[in-house]
Amino acid sequence: MIAFIDLAAQQTRLKPRIDAAIQRVLAHGGYVMGPEVRDFEARLAEFGRAKHALSCGNGTDALALPLMAWEIGVGDAVFCPSFTFAATPEVIPWTGATPVFVDILEGTYNLDPHHLEAAIEAVKAKGELRPAAVIAVDLFGQPADYPRLAEVCRRHGLKLIADSAQGFGCTLNGEHPVHWADAATTSFFPAKPLGAYGDGGAVLTDDADLAERMDSLRVHGKMTKSDINGHHWDHDPKYFNARIGMNSRLDTMQAAILIEKLAVFADEIELRQTVARRYSAGLKGHVCATPTVIAGGRSTWAQYVIEHHDRDGLAAHLKAVGVPTAVYYPVPMHRQAPYACFPIAPGGLPVSDAKADRVLALPMHAYLAEDVQDHIIDAVRGYNG
Ligand SMILES: Cc1ncc(COP(=O)(O)O)c(C=O)c1O
Repeated sequence: MIAFIDLAAQQTRLKPRIDAAIQRVLAHGGYVMGPEVRDFEARLAEFGRAKHALSCGNGTDALALPLMAWEIGVGDAVFCPSFTFAATPEVIPWTGATPVFVDILEGTYNLDPHHLEAAIEAVKAKGELRPAAVIAVDLFGQPADYPRLAEVCRRHGLKLIADSAQGFGCTLNGEHPVHWADAATTSFFPAKPLGAYGDGGAVLTDDADLAERMDSLRVHGKMTKSDINGHHWDHDPKYFNARIGMNSRLDTMQAAILIEKLAVFADEIELRQTVARRYSAGLKGHVCATPTVIAGGRSTWAQYVIEHHDRDGLAAHLKAVGVPTAVYYPVPMHRQAPYACFPIAPGGLPVSDAKADRVLALPMHAYLAEDVQDHIIDAVRGYNG
């Protein structure tokens, strides 16, 4: 059976280094916020070309942290796509704010800047909610149209978060999403392009104040240097809390593993380009759509997604010949019960609705062998549904 994502192949490459890293953590015993956490954060910031990188418990908390730091809450509107993983809209009602769903672009599956603008204007005209922030998603690994999205956000005074859980490492004209976004987040869920051996996440930002507040929020709202400085305390301020936060930390063990994985990540992104290129060369013209990457964009290919008018028939055919597939996402968030009550941008979300019926993700990872890939391509081409 072909692996949809082959974590074992990567482990074979890195095993001695990962084993040694785990042993180092066992030897020093600093399992929470140990030295590898700070080391990894520094390396992550450098890789993602941000001034600050803060690790946390998972990619969902990574999205919540900037919203909390900006004190976004009741009465605020946060705009996001519906064609995404649940975590993107989920964090918005956590804060008391209201998600407003916006449609995606036909080719890239990423947030449509025109529709975003229409959504912001509609919310303003209605006057019930205050537009506060946008969460753009780097779906399937490719960067959203950040120059245009950032321009809309700037004009309307909104914060911009890049949900790069799938796209961490992607670039647009050589720049990472945090070049345009106030904060970029990622997930280290094992199946992600940069995955740990458990849960983990991070937020990257160039904003020192935001980084300081998020550092406080991830540890129960602990005092920051700015909270402490200039004040007199009768007690050690260590157990004083400046704000209501959460407990969201990356385990030292995961940080030690991620240091080793980050060392080969650029190479793995390159290997994924080769796999994607071969897929596209073999499948173009044989399915309704092969992926379109934004001009100047470089995807991390978290997923390689094709479109087919008989998606379910093709998936069944592939399964029968030993090719696993996945559907991201069969039901957009605005059509799921817990989210159906939230506002939708004017005109509805026709692209999100249509894509949900057609998309199919093929096996994708950096170590997908050419003969296996050829088998997958032949199997797709051989379907006459
Ligand atoms: C687009 C997107 N956002 C957020 C997340 C949440 O990440 P995590 O599972 O680490 O909480 C994921 C992945 O699971 C994702 O795909």
